[in-house]
Amino acid sequence: MSSALFSPYWLAGLELANRIVVSPMCQYSANDGSANDWHLMHLGMLANSGAGLVVVEATHVERHGRITHGCLGLYSDDNAVALERVIASCRHRGTAKFGIQIAHAGRKASSQRPWEGGGALKSGHDPWQTIAASPIPFGDNWHTPREVTEDDMARVQDAFVSAARRALDIGFDAIELHMAHGYLMHGFMSPISNRRTDQYGGSLDNRLRFPLAIARAVRGAVPQSIPLGARITGSDWREGGLTPDDAVAIARAMQKEGLDFICISSGGVAADIRNPATPGYNVPIAQRVKKEVGIPTRTVGLIIAPDQAETIVAGGQADLVAAARAFLDDPHWGWHAARALGAEVQRPPQYARAGPKLWAPAAAKTKA
Ligand SMILES: Cc1cc2nc3c(=O)[nH]c(=O)nc-3n(C[C@H](O)[C@H](O)[C@H](O)COP(=O)(O)O)c2cc1C
Repeated sequence: MSSALFSPYWLAGLELANRIVVSPMCQYSANDGSANDWHLMHLGMLANSGAGLVVVEATHVERHGRITHGCLGLYSDDNAVALERVIASCRHRGTAKFGIQIAHAGRKASSQRPWEGGGALKSGHDPWQTIAASPIPFGDNWHTPREVTEDDMARVQDAFVSAARRALDIGFDAIELHMAHGYLMHGFMSPISNRRTDQYGGSLDNRLRFPLAIARAVRGAVPQSIPLGARITGSDWREGGLTPDDAVAIARAMQKEGLDFICISSGGVAADIRNPATPGYNVPIAQRVKKEVGIPTRTVGLIIAPDQAETIVAGGQADLVAAARAFLDDPHWGWHAARALGAEVQRPPQYARAGPKLWAPAAAKTKA
């Protein structure tokens, strides 16, 4: 039986060994945006997880676009040097390809690390003025953002382009724009957080104007051979918010700007909204986007079991599946999925003796 999950896949000029993606995961552990040995350990571990692609955490395009003081950035040459050391090592020692998610946190910036409470930074902890589509806080006790001006848009757009260029210089295999989870771009797209009355608010076309300008500008800087995609929201999970119909329209608009893939995630636009807790809750939305738009589609969200991931890919619901927490729980998730599905996965030679032969005696005993 051949596994769909473990079949290779091409994204633009990039061949992935399989359809498994490690979803981007903030580590809140950088020094003024610069990666350090924590990132080397964390990403090094995931480089040999069996996933075809590891996407590095939300990496912010300007200092004030970081979620927390510990978030990664690519806003300085020092940031680029530090991340290059980590990624060069991971690519040299590991089996996965490496992508990066570039981001601006908008009204969710200037916040505490999750283990410090996860709310807005308090005075005395070096908070900063946040920016967003409209001056509406993310929730109670959150900062009130300043409404983004056209000057801000020009600066942020340049910052996205310059972060993408730095990512290319570092040698990343793929780039992803963070346009979900309530951060700056999603904040423009959602009617919950965007109440503007100018050409950037109102209709979906208007709310998409700034995010599409970012996609266009970054595409202009990223060669066609390097996959460029966006993580978008499939649903705001609230009446009056973005819906799966909107996700289809957004994916179509992004495809017109030349993006190579879409990742369907959801939620995060306001502090009091909770995502569903059902396995694969974004899968039906991804399936619609894949079918109706025809863009290579990834999805994420409570995809935990190998057979669940296999069913999603084999059934044509998504081309790629991403998992986040399952990889923190089991950094060799891809190896274990391969074993469960009877597939092959590449391992570093140092670990070759932990391959299928290790389990052969146990399998023979079960059969006997
Ligand atoms: C520790 C942690 C950090 C995360 N950081 C990011 C991030 O940087 N960018 C992003 O798009 N999603 C981020 N997420 C969301 C995950 O990528 C993923 O979409 C979400 O956890 C649902 O997938 P899961 O059920 O497989 O964990 C993070 C999730 C976790 C658990």
